[in-house]
Amino acid sequence: MAEQIDRNLALELVRVTEAAALAAARWMGRGDKNAADQAAVDAMRLILNTIEMQGVIVIGEGEKDEAPMLFNGEQLGAGVGLALDIAVDPIDGTTLTATGGNGALAVVAMAERGTMYAPGSLVYMNKIAVGPEARDVIDINQSVAYNLHAAAHALGKSVDDLTVMILDRPRHEKLIADVRKVGSRIRLIRDGDVAGAIAAGRPGTGIDLLMGVGGSPEAVIAAAALKCLGGGMQCKLWPRNDDERRYAQEHDHDLNRVFGINDLVAGDNVFFAATGITNGELLDGVRFVRGGAVTTSMVMRSRSGTTRIVESEHRWDKLMRISQISYANPNLAIPD
Ligand code: FBP
Repeated sequence: MAEQIDRNLALELVRVTEAAALAAARWMGRGDKNAADQAAVDAMRLILNTIEMQGVIVIGEGEKDEAPMLFNGEQLGAGVGLALDIAVDPIDGTTLTATGGNGALAVVAMAERGTMYAPGSLVYMNKIAVGPEARDVIDINQSVAYNLHAAAHALGKSVDDLTVMILDRPRHEKLIADVRKVGSRIRLIRDGDVAGAIAAGRPGTGIDLLMGVGGSPEAVIAAAALKCLGGGMQCKLWPRNDDERRYAQEHDHDLNRVFGINDLVAGDNVFFAATGITNGELLDGVRFVRGGAVTTSMVMRSRSGTTRIVESEHRWDKLMRISQISYANPNLAIPD
């Protein structure tokens, strides 16, 4: 019976990210990232509340950018069923969505209550993420060269043939120089290191490693995905200034601690879903078609180890009879 509930829950989750992606995609390229985020947050909250679970938001995101958010501590779900921690990123890549750039996703992860790490106000972590073959050889305390050679060896490739995904930020100048010195290839991305970590964790995407400093909430969400994929990740908190160093000390966050996947998500019953908002390496974005839209998602459960790629065709005429979310675009008239 419990197994049945789990299996159903995994598929329920894809409805959550589909709803968020459909709502956010309407804002693609319209230059208003807060409106896109708000639409995704509202859709996500609505669908999460219909699921039979007792969920609490542990990773609500939004703190760094003061964006619309699902609040940490917010209780969600129909109030019966499994007690779960929830991590959401209604849009990973709000700027990508607002500018029509590649790789924005709607993401949600869940695990047993009390098993997700809460980084509080420490908004950044340094990260290395890899797939199953290289998961036991990475070491974030070692040099970039060490990690690239170790990963290349584990993957049976030359370092020259590795592709490292890195967020394009001034703080990564040295990291980029170090990777170039070793001779590996780099794929710089404007945003979206959850998708980057998953791409590194999933064989066949062309991405071998994700390296560099990105959001802490995104690290926890990526850890949930990598746990399902059997990949590897190591992270360390990355304070931006003395205030954050002091905050870490006062709140018992060890800045020298190396967080592995199990430190970020300790549960062994992890659920993960993501839906593409804009096109990316991992998933296609939302495509609007006559009378509806098509979405592509991935849904995973750590217990079964199954990864499903789900393509859904949504029909406004039917959906609008049962959904509280206003997906259909009323603006069909051609303006004068
Ligand atoms: P948002 O969608 O919340 O803007 O996050 C996008 C993102 O690129 C994340 O994927 C990444 O972890 C983080 O921002 C990096 O932070 P910053 O943009 O401050 O360097």
